[in-house]
Amino acid sequence: MTDTKVWKIDQITSETERSIKEAAALLVQNQVVAFPTETVYGLGANAKEADAVARIFEAKGRPADNPLIVHLAERNQIDAYVAEVPEMAKKLLAAFTPGPLTVILKSNGTIAENVTAGLSSVGVRIPDHPVAQALLRACRLPLAAPSANKSGRPSPTTAAHVYEDLQGRIAGLLDGGPTGVGVESTVVDCTGEVPIILRPGGVTREQLEEVVGSVMVDPALAVQGEELPENKAVEKPRAPGMKYTHYAPEAPMWLVNGDQAFMQAQIDTLQQAGNKVGVIASEELADQLEIGAINRCGSRDNLHEVAAHLYDALRSFKKSDVDIILCETFPETGVGQAIMNRLHKAATKKINQF
Ligand code: TXA
Ligand code: MG
Repeated sequence: MTDTKVWKIDQITSETERSIKEAAALLVQNQVVAFPTETVYGLGANAKEADAVARIFEAKGRPADNPLIVHLAERNQIDAYVAEVPEMAKKLLAAFTPGPLTVILKSNGTIAENVTAGLSSVGVRIPDHPVAQALLRACRLPLAAPSANKSGRPSPTTAAHVYEDLQGRIAGLLDGGPTGVGVESTVVDCTGEVPIILRPGGVTREQLEEVVGSVMVDPALAVQGEELPENKAVEKPRAPGMKYTHYAPEAPMWLVNGDQAFMQAQIDTLQQAGNKVGVIASEELADQLEIGAINRCGSRDNLHEVAAHLYDALRSFKKSDVDIILCETFPETGVGQAIMNRLHKAATKKINQF
């Protein structure tokens, strides 16, 4: 057990700058520190020191074959860690960073080997959050940082989420309040001829295509939610992290794709069988359902709001409160692609009305 030091940072002032310097000093000593980004909280360590990076894997219980994203303060620092920055990556970086985009580039070998899990590529990202920026500038290090959750759990969008999972396992936690985007960065592989989305996220496919024309999606992502016939080979995802069970709430969760009457019928049947049921739904659907235990995650007309509240909704139902969670599905447009990707991974079953 380590004592986890928590600093509250409402805004960057001369006083909170001192806290950030303390957190930076821990990073320089190869300790791990959690910090807010615009997407989710990250768990940072010096990306040049394998010993420091090993502490991330240990604190999270993360499989060693899942590479970490390297966070930098500015675009002009990328050259130091990669073999080349192809034209499409330059365009994407110029358009979307700082922001919720991670580009995969060919590594030049300067990053610790356990960051890239032995791959010849490295993911780089310039976060757009004042606390992340201040921390990166104060420690003057590239920070390897996965989401600051226990492996398999929903990513943290508040400091309380991080504390719940990692207290006593990490040296420090910068509490910058709730994050804004709510789902992680979009991971785009720029090592080949055309950019390939390995993980949908805060920057949408539509936005990427406006800048670089046609973008591919890793075929392994397309199988989500489909009942695969036995023996059908599933494509191996190119982002190693996408193959793991993820974002799991404490109780089994079913995705319910149907109208209000269909959802109500599922609730009633499960309750009649003696189950304590919890529902995650939009404002619009929640208003029409008869059930006490309901977590509202925003309006169907504003998927950004849904993304921002999604992980909190997944974490809110505790094992002691519910036996089963039913969750609404959302349109797969814009950030809805990231929302549905995460929900498919979190769910244990899908029920379709149509
Ligand atoms: O928004 C985010 O990206 C957050 C914040 C903290 O920056 N970070 C995050 O990291 O979500 P993590 O470790 O939870 O997810 C990183 C994903 C994993 O699916 C990993 O397999 C993939 O990116 N990835 C990292 N480096 C890669 C590489 N060189 N090639 C392919 N996939 C890579
Ligand atoms: Mg993660």
